[in-house]
Amino acid sequence: PPLGPADLSTLERIACELATEAGRLIVEERPRHVDVAATKSTGTDVVTVMDQRSEELLRTRLEELRPQDGLLGEEGGSKESSSGITWVVDPIDGTVNYLYDIPAYAVSVAACVGDVSVAGAWHTVAGAVINPVTGELFHARQGGGAFLRRGEELTLLNVSGQRDLALSLLGTGFGYAAQKRREQISVVAAIIGEVRDIRRIGSAALDLCSVAAGRLDVYYESGLNAWDQAAGQLIVTEAGGVVRGRHGAPAGKELVIAGPDPLVTDLAALIDA
Ligand code: IPD
Ligand code: CA
Ligand code: CA
Ligand code: CA
Repeated sequence: PPLGPADLSTLERIACELATEAGRLIVEERPRHVDVAATKSTGTDVVTVMDQRSEELLRTRLEELRPQDGLLGEEGGSKESSSGITWVVDPIDGTVNYLYDIPAYAVSVAACVGDVSVAGAWHTVAGAVINPVTGELFHARQGGGAFLRRGEELTLLNVSGQRDLALSLLGTGFGYAAQKRREQISVVAAIIGEVRDIRRIGSAALDLCSVAAGRLDVYYESGLNAWDQAAGQLIVTEAGGVVRGRHGAPAGKELVIAGPDPLVTDLAALIDA
């Protein structure tokens, strides 16, 4: 059965609650010296005990609240859905910032429909991203607009009104593998002279929310996984932006470009070239 307004509100509320709860955990229990628990694709692609604990909290809470729903989490969480909804979660987005105590990391929680293992075969219906250090909670549900909550204050989000790429502040990021980073920097080299400046904040989820809030004019990155972008994509589109991939394809691992339509069009022309 299609999701009605009440279902979407429920999913959005749960996304907000779980992101907030996991965010509280990673801040309140952050050890003074964060240890690397393991490395993944490269020696600098790290996972800490708190990434694992945050994902475990999200997994347990979803099991209690939404036992029929599926799960896809960065730290291995995986469960088939029998309801049609799959939660796609990044328990700490910006782990390197977390390691260094740079206050730009997030928890990202998204309720998605479709096959989350196939690029372009799923979309997000509700999602939340929290920066637990600043307390900023970004959230959206399909058709409901995108919002930023800070304590009691609720702000409707809109992407930037900038239309000129040359005057745009651009966000991007890099993967962990050395060869990929070299390729990514050659794309940056082609673009850096065409924009106002670039920012590499270190959390893809916060980058997308920054686009939704007009704090970045436009953003692109390649190599992102579903958990990095699932909530942020919806937050951008509900803030009036567009999100797309390479050569107009849906956003995915290959590429995500997000921002106001005219900037995305002009940036895509540079990247696709
Ligand atoms: C990373 C961050 C970073 C982006 C990387 C991601 P993680 O996620 O979002 O900003 O550039 O591509 O892998 O590993 O900190 O969850
Ligand atoms: Ca990671
Ligand atoms: Ca991530
Ligand atoms: Ca992560």
